[in-house]
Amino acid sequence: MEIKKVGVVGCGLMGGGISEVCAKAGYPVVVLEVNQQLLDKGMSNITASLERAAKREKITMAEKDAALSRLQGTLNMGDFKDCDLVIEAAIENLEEKKKVFAGLDKVCPPHAFLASNTSCLSILDMAINQPAQPGTGASLLQPGAGDEAGRDRENARYHGRGY
Ligand SMILES: NC(=O)c1ccc[n+]([C@@H]2O[C@H](COP(=O)([O-])OP(=O)(O)OC[C@H]3O[C@@H](n4cnc5c(N)ncnc54)[C@H](O)[C@@H]3O)[C@@H](O)[C@H]2O)c1
Repeated sequence: MEIKKVGVVGCGLMGGGISEVCAKAGYPVVVLEVNQQLLDKGMSNITASLERAAKREKITMAEKDAALSRLQGTLNMGDFKDCDLVIEAAIENLEEKKKVFAGLDKVCPPHAFLASNTSCLSILDMAINQPAQPGTGASLLQPGAGDEAGRDRENARYHGRGY
């Protein structure tokens, strides 16, 4: 399956970094937060990280601008309606993640691949109410996409468990 657009749930430490890496890799990214204040904070962290990367000549100014242009923040999960891959990076709370996946199952296209960046919760428990979508655990290592640690994250390993 070709991934044309990526959705990210949560624009905190991990969600922001995941969004940044995906945008730098050339994917249009829509990132969801719970309120405007947190969305603004997350988006400015991503912007600052990309600016640092450009200043340190890890990426060019044009690459920074292109990555920023691919990023869209949202408070509406409906904006995931055309995402082929959604990576959940909300808080580490099973009930919250179950709600997120129940919502994603309603709005995402049937082919969409839904992944959780959980540290240690069960993917099966999260998916218990929506067996229709393909899913996985996506383990992304090392937060901090724009700096030293970001180099590691860009090399992040994904390892999935289908359910
Ligand atoms: N921090 C790490 O090093 C690390 C490493 C690997 C995995 N993880 C996992 O990644 C996930 C995110 O961790 P983090 O450190 O980025 O947390 P964080 O607190 O920095 O960010 C979580 C964000 O999710 C948002 N959020 C909560 N519920 C939401 C919802 N329903 N819809 C949209 N956004 C929502 C919060 O407002 C917050 O901004 C957790 O499951 C965590 O266990 C974290």
